[in-house]
Amino acid sequence: MSENKSRFNSRFAAIMAMAGSAVGLGNIWRFPYMVGEHGGAAFIIVYIAFCILVSLPIFIAESTAGRVSRKEGYSIMNKVAPVTILASFIILSFYSVVGGWSFDYLIRSFAGGFSGKDIAEAKEVFAGMNGSVVENVSCMLVFLGMTAMIVVAGVDKGIGRFSKISIPVLFIMVVLIAIESLRLPGSGKGIEYLIRPDWSKLNGPAIAAALGQSFFSLSLGVGSIYTYASYMREEDSVLRAGGWTAFFDTAFALLAGLAIMPAVFAAGIEPGAGPSLVFETLPVIFSRMGVVLPVIFFLAILIAALSSSISLLEVVVSWLVHSRGMRRRYAVLLVFFSAAFLGSACAVAPKVFAACDFLSSNVFMMIGALLFALITGWILPREEVMRHVRYRFAYALIRYVAPVMIVAIAVTNLL
Ligand code: TRP
Repeated sequence: MSENKSRFNSRFAAIMAMAGSAVGLGNIWRFPYMVGEHGGAAFIIVYIAFCILVSLPIFIAESTAGRVSRKEGYSIMNKVAPVTILASFIILSFYSVVGGWSFDYLIRSFAGGFSGKDIAEAKEVFAGMNGSVVENVSCMLVFLGMTAMIVVAGVDKGIGRFSKISIPVLFIMVVLIAIESLRLPGSGKGIEYLIRPDWSKLNGPAIAAALGQSFFSLSLGVGSIYTYASYMREEDSVLRAGGWTAFFDTAFALLAGLAIMPAVFAAGIEPGAGPSLVFETLPVIFSRMGVVLPVIFFLAILIAALSSSISLLEVVVSWLVHSRGMRRRYAVLLVFFSAAFLGSACAVAPKVFAACDFLSSNVFMMIGALLFALITGWILPREEVMRHVRYRFAYALIRYVAPVMIVAIAVTNLL
């Protein structure tokens, strides 16, 4: 094992890469719907509180573990590797299927494929794409190939450069969609759906959902944050990186809500969540607003998905390179082919897809996050940890609050 010499050459690159990992499909197809269902502003307040008190400390624990492990001798990754490597590999495989759909839909919207279609016809398009093994698998391979090309170019030249450019562009695109969406007559109902506080809806399941979502949204527990933190420059602080990542992630989720819900309500359609919202309802609504908007929308989704998938591929590649001594190029190739194999299974068999999704978010992510909180809170030497964590109360949150809350979400999710 050698000292890890790969680096992001600026603080901005590191923060954009982490924000890119965090900002993903979860912000677009789950968060806006959850907010509307669980009490609007009331839910947003609880979400932000959990983000600061639980998810951010776990983020800091995971990134501190990454920073400390960079030096030889503290290779914690070898202890948690079986869990995190497997988890990120599995997520990469099924995430690539959805990434492939975004690519497919980007091409379709370039060709003006949704103009004049209604929701029933859009459902047929989605079912047709999903039913075609060739289309499904080849789009997945294209997406995985793009991921591999960014990662093979290296930490700073590949991941860092891609993130520095694409994440700011992503924000601009979502702001543009939000402006268009808010200008539609009747969009006020969408804002009301998102914002009007309804404290009576804030029951136990809503609170558990807020915690689970903030956790998922910050990409915790699979080693992505650990790996990226291990590439930060010595002088850059993980506290600051965590604060910015949580801020961008939440801001993006709220912006996505403002881009999506006003348009959905203006069209007089019931908001849903998940694939049907993104691949059936929204293409129809946005293509009524011109040819450009659907293209911007699917390009945004593709970028959001890519910036997450590179952080997943990098976990496995980093481990192969730094713990197994493999050359970067071969490591990327090996993971590409293995993920293409599992990804194809996910693309053709919905049962495999669902099992990968369930196992990774309810089992592996939870175990991984618990391990990171326990390692940083209880195993690593206190002085070493405090150099990164700095505040005693943050250390206490990592030691006591985080482990209890992780077990609580894991149990609620599984029940
Ligand atoms: N945070 C991503 C999203 O909101 C999803 C995700 C969860 C993820 N865990 C991850 C992405 C680990 C990359 C790495 O869509």
